[in-house]
Amino acid sequence: MDKVLILDFGSQYSHLICRRIRESHFYCEIVPYTLSSKLIKKINPKGIIFSGGPASVYSKNSPKPDAGIFSMGIPILGICYGHQLIVDQFKGKVKRSDKREYGRAVLNIDDKSDLFKDIDDKIKCWMSHGDAAEEIPKGFKILAHTSSSSSAAIGNKDKKFYGIQFHPEVVHTEHGNEILTNFSRNICNAKSEWTMENFVNMSIGEIHRSVGNEKVLCAVSGGIDSTTVAALLHKAIGDRLQCVFVNNGLLRTNEEHMVMDLLRNQLQINVLYVEAQKRFLSKLKGIVDPEKKRKIIGNEFVEVFTEIAKKRGPFHWLAQGTLYPDVIESGVSKGPASVIKTHHNVGGLPKKLGLKLLEPLRDLYKDEVKQVARILNVPDDLLKRHPFPGPGLAVRIIGEVTKKKIEICKKSSNIVEEELLSANRYDKVWQAYAAVGDDRAVGVVGDERIYGHIVIVRVVDSIDAMTADWTKLPYDVIEKISDRITNEVEGVSWVTYAVSSKPPATIEPQ
Ligand code: XMP
Repeated sequence: MDKVLILDFGSQYSHLICRRIRESHFYCEIVPYTLSSKLIKKINPKGIIFSGGPASVYSKNSPKPDAGIFSMGIPILGICYGHQLIVDQFKGKVKRSDKREYGRAVLNIDDKSDLFKDIDDKIKCWMSHGDAAEEIPKGFKILAHTSSSSSAAIGNKDKKFYGIQFHPEVVHTEHGNEILTNFSRNICNAKSEWTMENFVNMSIGEIHRSVGNEKVLCAVSGGIDSTTVAALLHKAIGDRLQCVFVNNGLLRTNEEHMVMDLLRNQLQINVLYVEAQKRFLSKLKGIVDPEKKRKIIGNEFVEVFTEIAKKRGPFHWLAQGTLYPDVIESGVSKGPASVIKTHHNVGGLPKKLGLKLLEPLRDLYKDEVKQVARILNVPDDLLKRHPFPGPGLAVRIIGEVTKKKIEICKKSSNIVEEELLSANRYDKVWQAYAAVGDDRAVGVVGDERIYGHIVIVRVVDSIDAMTADWTKLPYDVIEKISDRITNEVEGVSWVTYAVSSKPPATIEPQ
């Protein structure tokens, strides 16, 4: 399949560029900027994009690609820092600047023959840069300018090297997708073959080839990723796939029944139900520290899963729902986000079980996984369900996890979900739940004074969970939620609404 390659110079937008190109059905991958031209030749891309990045081409150790890239005859598009790299490489002049140009600008297009083909004369574009090209290199032509940058886009049509100072991948740039498509289609001559139907067919073929007649084990949670992995593998190898669902006692109301019904009855997948509530709860007894809780849950999961694998085996493969952003880390810097809380995963499992790892979604973004799920007839209800953390209610129960607090958390969260659904707001928010801790407050029920728990209702808007805003729900919805929780959930006297955004707060309290 034709491929466009992104050389990542540490831009926060590299994944966005990749997603935009794929949305136009050109296959695109991200590689570190350090990749040698020899290896790039092997990959044989139709075009290369230099991402932006935080560095300045003049600073001492600024990241530079292997210079061999420029003599391979492959078209290159440099974005922002990538644009300056091209200017610098071909002996133009980059102006050093201490001031950043940040925000919207009007791009006046001077040449509409290739990169800007069929695009309006003036478009709004998004700038985010310090340095800028002052003198363009020999052989290059100005393709577009803004009021503060005379060479906001340049191109050398013979060599097929292009540079743009703005970011076509962000939504604030009008016709950004068309510019990237023009590069992929008109300049690189890449074929637009990347569709999820093609992916499913190719992937089934690949699974067949790798797995042969062997058996695959797969942990399922009812989340989109693991369900899609299971549905894809089931289509490829049928009952040689054994799925395992572990009930750890920390699930949402009725979740175990919904997941089993979905997998067994609707998708006809071979799935084993493991009742492990007591095991998890006894391991969590007396544990208050959030990180310890996470570790205990992760370790216990590995224990339970290992026992099942031994009892039901032998298996040869372990399937996991790893996605593309987990596989690719920025070529220059790793963000701090990943280390704020250790997220529960089962990374150690394949080694412990001596299994080969199967990750059929490792090339996909989340929105692509959803498309694959639809092709495989995964019901829409599941695709619309809010994300739920691996350690489950344990991260929504502050302090020790007890049966009573689980009950309060489950019932109250269910009320939050029901009320958002009936107010037609469930699909509009990122997550909505209730948390509970050990704080208590006085209330009066009937004529009786109670000293009940305080429940925290948390509803947030977000696009990718990296940042989040608390949702400004109408007062009457909050009131209804509060009334129902204090009336219907035993042991609760007060309800509060969390009004902290992320950052500085996180979405989950633990
Ligand atoms: P935070 O609380 O870090 O959450 O703002 C960001 C997103 O990640 C989910 N989350 C987790 N998911 N294991 C998971 O699989 C975890 O340990 C975990 N902690 C938080 C959270 O629900 C939100 O969507």
